[in-house]
Amino acid sequence: VGTLRVLGIESSCDDTAAAIVSGDGQIISETCRHQHQVHETYGGIVPGLAADHHLRNMPLVVRETLEKAGMRMSDVDAVAVTRGPGLPASLSVGVAAGKTLAAVHGKPLVGVHHMEAHALMARMGAEDEVRFPYLCLLISGGHTQSLVVHDVNEHTLLGSTRDDSVGEAFDKIARELDIAWLHTQDGGGAGPALEALARSGDPARFALPLPMEKSDSARSLDFSFSGLKTRIKRMRELGEFSAASRQDQADVAAAFQHAAAEHLRRKTRLALAHAAAEMGVAATCLVASGGVASNQAVRGALSELAARSGIPLVCPPPRLCTDNGVMIAWAGVERLRRGLLDSYDIDFIQRWPL
Ligand code: KG4
Ligand code: ZN
Repeated sequence: VGTLRVLGIESSCDDTAAAIVSGDGQIISETCRHQHQVHETYGGIVPGLAADHHLRNMPLVVRETLEKAGMRMSDVDAVAVTRGPGLPASLSVGVAAGKTLAAVHGKPLVGVHHMEAHALMARMGAEDEVRFPYLCLLISGGHTQSLVVHDVNEHTLLGSTRDDSVGEAFDKIARELDIAWLHTQDGGGAGPALEALARSGDPARFALPLPMEKSDSARSLDFSFSGLKTRIKRMRELGEFSAASRQDQADVAAAFQHAAAEHLRRKTRLALAHAAAEMGVAATCLVASGGVASNQAVRGALSELAARSGIPLVCPPPRLCTDNGVMIAWAGVERLRRGLLDSYDIDFIQRWPL
């Protein structure tokens, strides 16, 4: 199994990525082309533009990945590709590339669910620690959900956001506070800037009510972040704080960050309890993945919860939490081992529940 080498291809959103991963969890090579600058000026991802860039970049990204590994397609044992969910025009580029490469070279093809790949990523090189079943919390700009990972190809979605993703909430509130973006190596957006500012803030000065704590939604496993955003917007309109004052900015940032971390902690605690009581699932660990998992306040709240539950908190490195080719290749390894192959005529799946 250690010699198995899988080429993974990802193009579900705006990143064109590929990687080669071995069966023992080593990254042999990886390449990622972001399109952040392309979409930043439009304030969001433009699907047609994203697809154009995938079309242009995909052959170069795959070729570069092979070259960096010193490999040819004949040295690859299988091709894994993101099949969905995602933007149709973006997905179609990766799926066409993956199945054509596999078919032409006679390699096994593995169609991968993007969310399953995020959830399995934590197991790469840590299969002894991250054993099935475990609870996975995906918290990024695109995703906010908790799921039980029973096994490969076997998951139960427990909670997801009813409105904004948690990353979106960080981004929108940073905008409301007129916080300039920090540009970090790990991508980032406005979240890291808000976190940096919150360090000098007092979370108690503008204490915010936690989302979904009223009786009808207090027991729900879902998340909600738009209420915090609306509240802060209103506070600004009422002149309760000034975005021109650095201390006000910091105090509101700290209050929001505290509320977001606490909301995530409470809903994750409910998810763990639900899994145990209703599904008979004793999670072996808590995995937190996605850009927001690198936030220290969030991580602190989750690690406290994990410690109380007697399980470890595992967070993949930030680079592997964002969309990447490695997670697709690794999911390919896991599926291949269980004989989960696909035919050369698969199509992408835009909406694909776990
Ligand atoms: O996983 P990710 O890099 O990309 C996708 O969403 O696919 O997540 C990006 C999101 C952005 O909304 C960003 O503001 C947020 O994660 N984020 C953070 C931090 N780092 C990134 N939010 C809070 N604190 C951070 N340190
Ligand atoms: Zn993703």
